[in-house]
Amino acid sequence: MRVILLGPPGAGKGTQAQFISEKFAIPQISTGDMLRSAVKAGSPLGLQVKEVMSSGGLVSDEIIIALVKERITEADCQNGFLFDGFPRTIPQAEALIAAGVSIDNVLEIAVADEEIVTRMSGRRSHEGSGRTYHLIYNPPKVDGVDDITGEKLVQREDDHEDTVRNRLKVYHEQTKPLVAFYSNLKGSDAPQYSRIEGVGSVEEITRKVFAALAG
Ligand code: AP5
Ligand code: ZN
Repeated sequence: MRVILLGPPGAGKGTQAQFISEKFAIPQISTGDMLRSAVKAGSPLGLQVKEVMSSGGLVSDEIIIALVKERITEADCQNGFLFDGFPRTIPQAEALIAAGVSIDNVLEIAVADEEIVTRMSGRRSHEGSGRTYHLIYNPPKVDGVDDITGEKLVQREDDHEDTVRNRLKVYHEQTKPLVAFYSNLKGSDAPQYSRIEGVGSVEEITRKVFAALAG
């Protein structure tokens, strides 16, 4: 099964990706997590993308496409995968088609901009795994630490309000056109497109996500 999770920053893609990945036994491929690991490690890729990420802009299509193409050749991707935060531009979506990578489901999680700004200010993340929490809506079992590893949670550098607003602007200009792109794909290879409202408890959204993927 090959799935694309589409939605604005803070829609809950990463939060829901964990559940989908477990239920369908497919790896979560988050380009954001991969880039953050590279930045943290100080690798040449990390040094190249650090600045554009902290401003809330998009990393170049060339870099992202190369990263994803390499990742999906790995052994754990042979039975499918879940893209979280990719594709994010029309050229990225076209590169997948050109590479002959067919997709079964595109799932859009829709959330309004103002709700997103509130969510981002309360987000806390576990750097090692990319697991995310929210101080109020989705708190960890113990304050300030990851449920599984017990390691400290941090606030993402791009979660400050100005940067969040820039990420939303970039989303509307460059990523939102993918809604029409995928909804309008025709043919036997075209993915099933589903849109769900992403406001409600995490559990409610998970139920809607599973129903969309089953249908
Ligand atoms: P990326 O990491 O992909 O960030 P994003 O798309 O902006 O998405 P987020 O991770 O911020 O949000 P999410 O939807 O995963 O929400 P979450 O589940 O955490 O990308 C970061 C950067 O990398 C980009 O800006 C860009 O520079 C670069 N990049 C990455 N991919 C790229 C690509 N393909 N091309 C070019 N550049 C790329 O939830 C958010 C918060 O809400 C959490 O606190 C969570 O606990 C809470 N929450 C979740 N669900 C609910 C709910 N139902 N109710 C209340 N709160 C909730
Ligand atoms: Zn995410």
